[in-house]
Amino acid sequence: MPKQDKQIQRKVEHLFLAEKYYTDEAFADFDNVRLLHAALPELNYKDIDLSVDFLGFNASLPIYFNAITGGSRQSNRFNSELAKMAKELNIPVSSGSMGVYFRIPETADSFKVLRENNPDGFVMANTSAKATPELAKKAIDLVSANALQIHLNVTQELAMPEGDREFVCLKNIESIVKNVNVPVIVKEVGFGMSKDTIEQLKNIGVQNIDISGFGGTDFAQIESARNHELDLTYLDQFSLSTVESLIETKPFQNELNFFASGGIRTPMDVIKAIRLGATSVGMSGLVLHHLQKYSYEETHLFFESFIAQLKVIMANIGATNMTEIKKAPIIYDESLVNYAKQRQIK
Ligand code: FNR
Repeated sequence: MPKQDKQIQRKVEHLFLAEKYYTDEAFADFDNVRLLHAALPELNYKDIDLSVDFLGFNASLPIYFNAITGGSRQSNRFNSELAKMAKELNIPVSSGSMGVYFRIPETADSFKVLRENNPDGFVMANTSAKATPELAKKAIDLVSANALQIHLNVTQELAMPEGDREFVCLKNIESIVKNVNVPVIVKEVGFGMSKDTIEQLKNIGVQNIDISGFGGTDFAQIESARNHELDLTYLDQFSLSTVESLIETKPFQNELNFFASGGIRTPMDVIKAIRLGATSVGMSGLVLHHLQKYSYEETHLFFESFIAQLKVIMANIGATNMTEIKKAPIIYDESLVNYAKQRQIK
């Protein structure tokens, strides 16, 4: 793998800068949403079912490892560990963007480890919204992907001096969706989506959307740290938090399939995101932080505790499965009520 290549170097820097700026506290607005306890939950703890149907895959948990990496030697390690952990937990796992593989085929192994370490699991490929349908198929083939993620990352590109400046993508996304033979998820990378964006995607036939909101990994901050010309950290001020983005999905929840990510830190965040309309909840920063700071075994223990806590929360709100979580009473803080009102979302 060419060590001096700038694109590969960027992938390495993303891993380390994500860890440098990681905080246990997130700003995804989950603290501004309350779930209410049920004094008479009328359920048996042992009946609590955490499974979800993730695009036809019977996942054991309502969580998945979202796109992170590929292309570097470090990516080999993280993708191998993510795939192994996803297999053990029986949850979906995604690759980082495969643009680097299209340009430098020698980087293929850093992506292939996702499938090699999780032969029967649900693995997602990941490309930019500019990839041709042929390249999208190449990405899918590399890991025998069960789904394809297409990322939207305008803010990130703008924060990079070498970033893309031509943001005309809808027609291309439409032709990818029409030409690949796996489900497509269009995702943000941590700046959220408005109902206007969701409407644009719906109109070209996109069925699955990961709103990936603001509150966790912040690429305005990460790219500004790499940018020696301009500090563009303020670009994150335009973003929609994960909860605000989930509010934006409300008018479409009966017709489209939504995934949530961005600043997920706790089992409570996961349950709240499900309550607000997500089918399953993605995490990147959180799992990467654990793998970078602690051992694989310790990260596994973290998830065992995470799973136990998901059940405790469900029992406390009287929900035995995902459908019942969606019926649990909820209270929004004033700031979110005001947000929904101004956005004219009921
Ligand atoms: C990412 N993310 C990302 N997303 C994507 O679609 N393609 C990619 O290549 C990457 N690369 C990437 C690298 C690193 C180091 C991180 C931490 C994240 C974005 C990711 O999938 C997610 O949308 C955001 O990070 C928000 O979620 P978290 O990190 O707050 O849980």
